[in-house]
Amino acid sequence: MKIIKNGTLVTPEGLKNESLGFENGKIVRIGTFEAGEGDEVIDAAGCYVYPGFIDGHTHLDLEVAGTVTADDFETGTTAAVCGGTTCVVDFATQYAGDTVLNALNTWKKKAEGKMHCNVAFHMAICDWNEKTKADLPALREEGVTSFKVYMAYDTALEDAEILEVLEAIKPFGGILGCHCENGGLVTELQKQQIGAGHTGPSAHPLSRPAAVEAEAVNRFCYLGYLADAPVNIVHLSTKLGLEEIREARKRGQTVYAESCPQYMLLDDSLYNLPGFESAKYVCSPPLRKEEDIKALREAVINGEIDTIATDHCSFSYEKQKIAGIDDFRKIPNGAPGIEHRPAVFMHIFGDKLTPQDYCRLMSRGPAEVFGMYPQKGALLEGSDADITIWDPSVRWTISAGNMHQNLDYTPYEGVEVKGRPKYVFVNGELAAKDGEPTNMRAGTYVAR
Ligand code: URP
Ligand code: ZN
Ligand code: ZN
Repeated sequence: MKIIKNGTLVTPEGLKNESLGFENGKIVRIGTFEAGEGDEVIDAAGCYVYPGFIDGHTHLDLEVAGTVTADDFETGTTAAVCGGTTCVVDFATQYAGDTVLNALNTWKKKAEGKMHCNVAFHMAICDWNEKTKADLPALREEGVTSFKVYMAYDTALEDAEILEVLEAIKPFGGILGCHCENGGLVTELQKQQIGAGHTGPSAHPLSRPAAVEAEAVNRFCYLGYLADAPVNIVHLSTKLGLEEIREARKRGQTVYAESCPQYMLLDDSLYNLPGFESAKYVCSPPLRKEEDIKALREAVINGEIDTIATDHCSFSYEKQKIAGIDDFRKIPNGAPGIEHRPAVFMHIFGDKLTPQDYCRLMSRGPAEVFGMYPQKGALLEGSDADITIWDPSVRWTISAGNMHQNLDYTPYEGVEVKGRPKYVFVNGELAAKDGEPTNMRAGTYVAR
């Protein structure tokens, strides 16, 4: 047995200064006990021992905008464990003409042999038809219980189709997330920007203002209302969108809200950098204004946000973002963050949140919303031995030069953070130590 000693365990019952033993990939003992012969002791003095962090929103090895994300499952999950994340829920994506079952197989193959952390899949439903609907029970048997639809991009569904998806997954307790941006409005506002001669990245946020998100959040919430089904608002970025969630909750609806560190640290002034530099921050929804950042931070502190994810969707600045040098609409949308989420999120909130809050937002919350709790998201006897031992005293500076994400920049370049994972265990195996990978590839596919 491996035994973690001298640390502070972040458990569902509260913080505990106890020992934690694990073997064969499972937590087997929590309490006050000594190591026996043959046990391996891991010293966690001065550290918090968290159930491994879960990133509920990543895009690895995704073909989009005529290119493929810079991180695949090899580099993406390596970066994840180095930052303290032991499980990602990635988006298997059904392209037009494909079946959802085939899309799942495609994504399982992409991940095969490359999982440094555990991997579960949401299904992004992009072609809603009778076959897609008929395949949902089989998909559920394959362990996929969460789904995403888009209201923007060429992957968007019509409102009536989204309603049908909600109705179809309701009988088996599926949860639907939505990319809430009004795609028609985005196209029109993009045209207006181009018509006015604004071709650079500074036009990106102007073509996707807060109202474009809020209108879509409102619509998706009402679709959930009509279907009497819970909904999950992914990558919430605006105060206006948050207000729509509050209204829906007042109506008695179950609305889960996900946001990401970039929307609580970085603002839209980054779209006015010299040259093409701002392309690094072209993600959708875009970075927002101070008032949005303030509102989201307050919502996190008030408990109105359920999960913190990254929407990690990485493209090299030099090789991929550059495709939009003459037309901002051609810049592949997305930003990286899979490696830095825990450190950046703790940097933003510091002592304003407790270790229990960090656990709720980055581990327990995603495990509960996506049907993995208490197998994951908890330090309990019987839970998976996915464990992040977090040393809050280590000071370091985020830089593209010291990261494992496979690209040439990070939006958090130069941010000085306090705290880093000392040890990261995935299914009981040491996956990273002091921010460096052990290359165990101990992750597995998580059927939910
Ligand atoms: O810009 C982003 N976020 N691209 C990734 C796809 C999405 O919308 O989640
Ligand atoms: Zn999205
Ligand atoms: Zn996304």
